[in-house]
Amino acid sequence: MKIRVRVNGQTYESDVEPRKLLVYYLRDDLGLTGTHVGCDTTSCGACTVLLDGKAVKSCTVLAVQADGRDVTTVEGLEQDGELHPLQTAFWEEHGLQCGYCTPGMLMSGYALLQSNPDPSEEEIRKGISGNLCRCTGYMNIVKAIRSAASKLADASAEPSKEVAASGSSSD
Ligand code: FES
Ligand code: FES
Repeated sequence: MKIRVRVNGQTYESDVEPRKLLVYYLRDDLGLTGTHVGCDTTSCGACTVLLDGKAVKSCTVLAVQADGRDVTTVEGLEQDGELHPLQTAFWEEHGLQCGYCTPGMLMSGYALLQSNPDPSEEEIRKGISGNLCRCTGYMNIVKAIRSAASKLADASAEPSKEVAASGSSSD
């Protein structure tokens, strides 16, 4: 079947078998191997990507279901060679050990911060509850997401300060 999918801002037209899973389309057809396969049974969350902005487990979605839609993978977080603040926070807070679960954690964390820019620890734990990590005990992952939330809040506060400053200077 022919599908047309926008992945990380780039449009791909592909011919896929109707039974092909989105995770294998991303990894094998597009070479986007940042999305990992852990369990293949919707349990671990390593394969999490965003589909039209919503976190989904791509081992449970058919590639044909992404036809005409927008997909973001972990490769899409970094912009112009700059890591996303969430990626930087995982690095700074040591939010990983083996790193296998990290792409899925990043995508679930990213989706959470999109809908809730200032999540509590409880909300973060709920937000990543579909993602299993076997080696960090989650504490540093939670800290990383909290840290990213404040980095993003600081970044979005800066332009408004400029607007306020330019507004007051024109008074
Ligand atoms: S590989 Fe998809 S949830 Fe584990
Ligand atoms: S860092 Fe190893 S499974 Fe999460």
